[in-house]
Amino acid sequence: MRVLLAASEVAGFAKTGGLADVAASLPRALAARGDTVAVVMPLYNACRKQPVERTHIVLPVPMGDRVLACRVFRSRLPNSDVPVFLIEHAPFFERDDQRAGRGLYQQRVNGNQTDYWDNGARFVFFSRAVLELVPHLGFAPDILHANDWQTGLVPVFLKELYRGVPGYQRLRSVFTIHNIAYQGSFPRELMNFTGLGSHLYNPAQLEHWGFNFLKSGIVFADMVNTVSPTYAREIQTGEFGYGLEGLLASNHWKLWGIVNGCDYDEWNPATDKLIASKFDAKTVFENKPLCKADVQRKFAIAEDANAPVLGLVARLAHQKGVDLVLAAAPGLIDMGCQLVVLGDGDRDLQNGLQYLRDKHPDRVGVYFGFNETLAHAVEAGSDLFLMPSRYEPCGLNQLYSLRYGTPPIVRGTGGLADTVVNATLENLADNLATGFVFGDYSAHALYETVRWAVALYRDQPAQFRQIVRTAMAQDWSWSRSADTYERLYRRAQGM
Ligand code: ADP
Ligand code: GLC
Repeated sequence: MRVLLAASEVAGFAKTGGLADVAASLPRALAARGDTVAVVMPLYNACRKQPVERTHIVLPVPMGDRVLACRVFRSRLPNSDVPVFLIEHAPFFERDDQRAGRGLYQQRVNGNQTDYWDNGARFVFFSRAVLELVPHLGFAPDILHANDWQTGLVPVFLKELYRGVPGYQRLRSVFTIHNIAYQGSFPRELMNFTGLGSHLYNPAQLEHWGFNFLKSGIVFADMVNTVSPTYAREIQTGEFGYGLEGLLASNHWKLWGIVNGCDYDEWNPATDKLIASKFDAKTVFENKPLCKADVQRKFAIAEDANAPVLGLVARLAHQKGVDLVLAAAPGLIDMGCQLVVLGDGDRDLQNGLQYLRDKHPDRVGVYFGFNETLAHAVEAGSDLFLMPSRYEPCGLNQLYSLRYGTPPIVRGTGGLADTVVNATLENLADNLATGFVFGDYSAHALYETVRWAVALYRDQPAQFRQIVRTAMAQDWSWSRSADTYERLYRRAQGM
């Protein structure tokens, strides 16, 4: 297959969450299978930490009655030959600056994360540039693979504006939903920038609470997928669909669920240069304690070898269930646990966590910001990992936790339900358990599940060690997910 994957973030270049990991790992896995792949993303300031080269390609990108000329830069995905094309338009994309509180999509205003006012125009522009890039790739792609609302218009442009254009006729589109809660809804007037006919603005096509980019992608893509089978089912229901459940249910014939993989080149405790002591399944019980002491030092909490350390790394957003952690925390601390939290986002959640830290400085450590080294340290040094998500399309941190011998405690939703095997008595007896799963979205359910995990950790160490070993032996490598993506692409090709 020949694939152009378009994403608004790619790990190594610019990242806010799991989308970036997928956009870097899936192309590498496809390339390893012999597919021809390229990636396209905007050129943010953050991207300059990689060597990026100016090319002679200049794309004419129509925006309403103007045409903006944009230059294309080029790089490679780290540890691969996969080309990355970066679309330059400084006024739209070169504004990120961590220290000033300016991110890829949002900036901090009075302490609150606020969307940039022109996000709609920025990603109309980027999506149109993706189509304009197609003749310059050096190969003729079969598939345009768009991801999330930022590239939701790619399938629309392909079908509506490029269908008959030579070089585009055989192209088909695939659209991946990584998170249905973020839909990119904008005022109807934004249609004026797109060159799309205004007749498309109707409830069966582009309209849903405004001009909705995610919905547009779902309607116009040849095939659609999300990042786990359970989430693919969940989003067809009112509880999880964020208003798009009806649309998805009626399009279920083209909706697949494919679990993400884990990039074991980057997330492997046996080779990880970012952790205090490397370990594998044979050395985990000797070396993990060194990582634990390291994380306790890094978060300035008591260096207590016996306290179960609960780790959490997440965007501090409604989705992630941090409110349950806050509510359960007094009980968890009474139980003798320590808590280390790495996250960025919602100010109220940060305040709640900071309050806990101030009240229990030897038990609770927090770091607010994005820090990849600390993310590795937390995975390696914690005894248990918390992911009490309200919903979770796939989740990558639980996959990292499994490999780092840090049994995840998860709510059984989306990809968490598909990747973690609960430590029930039956699963323990069969050596199948890899973590702890609870159902109710309540602090009580979280508390009780941690209590069960801590009971095993303290009183049945042999049993707990078996969970660690089983977890570390799981294989969630990308190669198997890439195999399924290839089938998805073929299905789209036949459309
Ligand atoms: P989501 O995409 O919803 O944020 P995932 O679990 O799929 O959730 O992926 C999150 C990714 O972002 C992981 O690679 C995780 O390690 C990383 N991450 C999240 N928050 C931070 C942070 N504050 N610092 C470093 N890495 C983070
Ligand atoms: C999203 C989801 C997360 C998923 C990631 C990559 O941001 O919240 O569950 O793992 O995308 O697909």
